[in-house]
Amino acid sequence: MTLHITAPLSDLVASYQRGHTLPAAFYTAPELFETDLDVFFHRHWIMVGVTAEIPEPGDVRKVDIGRNSILLLRDDDMQVRAFHNVCRHRGARIVSEEQTSVGRLVCPYHQWSYDLTGELVHAAHMGKGLDRSCHGLKPVNLKVISGIIFICIADEAPADIEEIADILGARLQPFRLDEARVAHAKTIVEPGNWKLSVDNNRECYHCEGSHPELINTFVGLDIGFDPDELGDEEKAEYAEHCRIAAAQVAEWEAQGFASRAVEFYEGHETMMRTERFVIAGAGESHTLDGKAACRKLLGGLTDPRFGDMHLHTHNSWSHFFADHAVISWIIPLAPDQTELRTVWLVNKDAREGEDYDLDRLTEVWIATNQQDADLVTIAQQGVSSVAYQPGPLSQFCETAVDRNIAWYVERLRKHGFGE
Ligand code: FES
Ligand SMILES: [Fe+2]
Repeated sequence: MTLHITAPLSDLVASYQRGHTLPAAFYTAPELFETDLDVFFHRHWIMVGVTAEIPEPGDVRKVDIGRNSILLLRDDDMQVRAFHNVCRHRGARIVSEEQTSVGRLVCPYHQWSYDLTGELVHAAHMGKGLDRSCHGLKPVNLKVISGIIFICIADEAPADIEEIADILGARLQPFRLDEARVAHAKTIVEPGNWKLSVDNNRECYHCEGSHPELINTFVGLDIGFDPDELGDEEKAEYAEHCRIAAAQVAEWEAQGFASRAVEFYEGHETMMRTERFVIAGAGESHTLDGKAACRKLLGGLTDPRFGDMHLHTHNSWSHFFADHAVISWIIPLAPDQTELRTVWLVNKDAREGEDYDLDRLTEVWIATNQQDADLVTIAQQGVSSVAYQPGPLSQFCETAVDRNIAWYVERLRKHGFGE
């Protein structure tokens, strides 16, 4: 069912109440979906891939975002580049495969050819009047941070990506993700609005009831969690976890590995949160028993107990462990359809069957992603009902959801939507 907006967008924005979910139209209306694409997927930095997916010169990945199609590629000098997938002749889409490898990018329409730096190098029957240097592929703003690819489609990209690159670059450097190998990649479609996918990711209120695999290792204590609200047993458990986590974080920091939470929400153009979490169970990785799934660790790491370096942005969530990384990002497809792509990275020298078992490496997050997709499904069904009205968020375990939504509304207002 498609619900159209019945009130001006400014009224809808004004009706948002802090501490609550959004009015239904934000999750269902096609008009708002278009606004979301324009503001949050064209004018903000979005995660769209990892360099390990395009390891060799000529490797190309196509990423479609609304009406735009972007090519991520590796040039002959091993530099990663991003271009609009639009021919400079009559605009045809050049690459239609999701992943390919090419010597040159050749438009299938009239065979204009571009080298891997985007320069137009061949255009038959155009006479002497064509200035090839003015007809290269249009580049897209690109920022590669430790092997993770961010783009911004708008001409003017938020400047705070440099600050984020400094923070993340230092934290991710030990994992050397730019040298890692893709062990597995999986794309699923969540039948829900992209904001429901993200909100679902920002809390672990649902973990106990839905993620039997993940809760073995992920301690889902929320930012702003209030221990006074807990029962005696939970309070003791919480206090013990806090003691262990604080000691571990202090130890990592003393070793020179930044681990404390850094948050970019309200007041920031780009949303970002990162923190190194302590892992429960055996304490090494997100596997069923918490032990590392891959024998060869990432980068030059030697200790498998390196925590869970967590990162989320407004279209992504990732976990970096000593033995592997699991990196996920979303692209909205429709008001009620969101594509979720996840890649699992391991040391480039790690061999499947010898150093790791693929099922063991991937089983926790494959299960978790599907469980989350099922939750997003029922959330979308509910917000599409006439009975839905914005509901209150827990101030103890949904504070990140609240801040997520507040950032979203703030950004809408900053871009001229709302009062
Ligand atoms: S549209 Fe690409 S060569 Fe004509
Ligand atoms: Fe979840």
